[in-house]
Amino acid sequence: MFGPYTRLTTVVITILTLGSSLVLAECTREGLLAAADSYLAAQTSGSIDDLKLSPNFTYQLNNKVADIKTGVLSQPLKIDLNRSTADTIACASYTMLISATGSQPYVISTQIRHEDNGTSSIALIDTIAATTGALFFDAQKTLGYIEKENWGTLDEEMRTSRDELKRVGDAYLDMWTDANAADSIPWGTDCERVEGSSLTRPCGATLPHGGSQKPNGNRRYVIDETMGSVDVLCSFNSLGDMPDSHEVRVEGGTVKYVHTVTVLQ
Ligand SMILES: *[C@@H]1O[C@H](CO)[C@@H](O)[C@H](O)[C@H]1NC(C)=O
Ligand SMILES: *[C@@H]1O[C@H](CO)[C@@H](O)[C@H](O)[C@H]1NC(C)=O
Ligand SMILES: *[C@@H]1O[C@H](CO)[C@@H](O)[C@H](O)[C@H]1NC(C)=O
Repeated sequence: MFGPYTRLTTVVITILTLGSSLVLAECTREGLLAAADSYLAAQTSGSIDDLKLSPNFTYQLNNKVADIKTGVLSQPLKIDLNRSTADTIACASYTMLISATGSQPYVISTQIRHEDNGTSSIALIDTIAATTGALFFDAQKTLGYIEKENWGTLDEEMRTSRDELKRVGDAYLDMWTDANAADSIPWGTDCERVEGSSLTRPCGATLPHGGSQKPNGNRRYVIDETMGSVDVLCSFNSLGDMPDSHEVRVEGGTVKYVHTVTVLQ
């Protein structure tokens, strides 16, 4: 008597299960953040075995294609702080992590890009890894500043459009070559800039106004409107050729936080 219902229940459960795996296979916020968490787990253990990598996977370390088996991801790190954002349009995520209390300190900026052919597998892990010797490097100090920040999800009315977030990220990187770029950025009055471990508050003070002939190139973006954030990985060519990450958070239309991770080489 309960036979048909049991079968129906089975069918419904099967469809629901299928449904959720299909959702995960798309570039959803949940899927992207789950993949970012799998990256953090890999960095914690130093093992990439559980990462869902595409057959056509690339690992990039400090702007160069590298062997993932010898890169920093294959070295276990004690992670003291992590934070991720998700870009459902680009099918990518951005994670910053700080390892201050392990054997070798690191501040790491990683963008993860996924295949957008429905498999959601990881096509690219693109990492800027700063350690002792990097620009203004002091992981403990950076940790102290960044753990005090509030990176909560923004209410609707505090959000900024994707285009404007990208414009702000680009304007920031253009300040060294474009004399007008600094004044085109809506600086918040209580904005804070953490460059390596160097703190500047308010962050609109002491800005470059052009002077370099070399634009910062090779820009890769992860933009998250719900977090008001844009992260740009680039080759910081204006002052040399440095692997670099610049992340900006915009709250209610004005810049609240800027973080930079810059490797000297
Ligand atoms: C998705 O793209 C990757 C890289 O091009 C390819 O290796 C993989 O087979 C594709 N998967 C499907 C289901 O098309
Ligand atoms: C494989 O990866 C490389 C480097 O990321 C990319 O340029 C190329 O288009 C990819 N090939 C396919 C078939 O997706
Ligand atoms: C990342 O940070 C969250 C809290 O912000 C924490 O719950 C989680 O355990 C951290 N992950 C790792 C691998 O440290």
